Amino acid sequence: MNILSIETSCDETALSIISADIKTKNFSVLSDLVISQIDIHKEYGGVFPALAKREHANNLTPLLRHALIEASLLVEGTPEVNTEELKLLLEREPELFEQLSTFLTSTEKPKLDAIMVTYGPGLTPALWVGVNFARALSLVWNIPVIPVNHMEGHITSILFEDGYRTKEKALVDTDVVELPLIALLISGGHTQLVLVKQWGQYEIIGETIDDAVGEAFDKVARMLGMEYPGGPKVSQAATRGVEDDEVTLPRPMIASKDYRFSFSGLKTAVRYLVEDQQRKGTLDEQKIANISREFEHAVAEVLIKKTSDALIEYGAKGLIIAGGVSANTFIVNSFRKVIETEFDGVALYTPKRALCGDNSLMIASAGFIQLLTQENPYVDVQELVAVGNLKLS
Ligand code: KG4
Ligand code: ZN
Repeated sequence: MNILSIETSCDETALSIISADIKTKNFSVLSDLVISQIDIHKEYGGVFPALAKREHANNLTPLLRHALIEASLLVEGTPEVNTEELKLLLEREPELFEQLSTFLTSTEKPKLDAIMVTYGPGLTPALWVGVNFARALSLVWNIPVIPVNHMEGHITSILFEDGYRTKEKALVDTDVVELPLIALLISGGHTQLVLVKQWGQYEIIGETIDDAVGEAFDKVARMLGMEYPGGPKVSQAATRGVEDDEVTLPRPMIASKDYRFSFSGLKTAVRYLVEDQQRKGTLDEQKIANISREFEHAVAEVLIKKTSDALIEYGAKGLIIAGGVSANTFIVNSFRKVIETEFDGVALYTPKRALCGDNSLMIASAGFIQLLTQENPYVDVQELVAVGNLKLS
């Protein structure tokens, strides 16, 4: 079966088409597209929801056309479409309605059997565009929809093989991944430790009480004069940093004996450090690198302490590190060392580089797991809504 997957929860508009086989429990990737809005949000120093919504609305139809062409599924035609019904559904996305109705009245129904779409968590206005796009396609083409939790997508993003883009079987065999697992989800909006009991069965065992790790990286970057999203820039600067007695930061809640995180105080500590260095006139390139390094060390130590405790308490057979911040080489390498030296027999799973940030193949993999494990993963599209603060369960 051919499946279209849609992701619009934040600042990437992503769309993919897979050819899935329930019998072999695997799929191949026919198309995988993403348009990043980073350049647009840069000047606001973060993601601006109304702008994200507008951009998603403008991006989705051209992406769909492109994906169908890439998957060899586009057939030109002049089908009858009830555009009044479509207009009503897309009442709040007029740009999307214009483009989509033109597209749908000039294209035959493609060979698609299901649609998977992120319905939360994320920026509510951004999520709605993807959800309404899925509902519109479902209505016009009569295709069922599977709603997907974005965080489950980050978890299942580790299931892709090397060379997944061109392989007949893009996924690793889930049967060989021993359970239970602990998943450390670190992104711009979330910092969570999740117990993966079974594929599709999750329990959040701890999360941040204030800022997410990625958010802290981005805010620290801003204080250090780096552009949004600053995470990668802080980590780059950190590689040039050295130990510095003037630059020490706290390891928040490292001794709290629970799985809660807090990064807001760490961020404030960086602010004081930066202000102090500015007063003294010593905030040069090297100091910035030293602060970046110390910040990264503080974050890594806290993440490693709590995650190690969780691995032991739950007898985990493996650790997943996923979400945008899993692109951070220092954090992942620090974990690798700890796992190798202290956790005999525990496997470490991270996504392929291109799948660390938001994408729609991760949504495809999570939706596919639902297809394999649930009797009826489909929803009534009339009832499908975006849920900004959706939790994993
Ligand atoms: O998962 P993601 O793409 O979007 C959300 O769902 O939030 O994560 C984006 C976050 C941003 O905060 C970005 O700065 C951070 O991931 N990030 C990094 C690195 N690459 C991306 N943070 C630290 N080091 C990196 N190399
Ligand atoms: Zn994400």
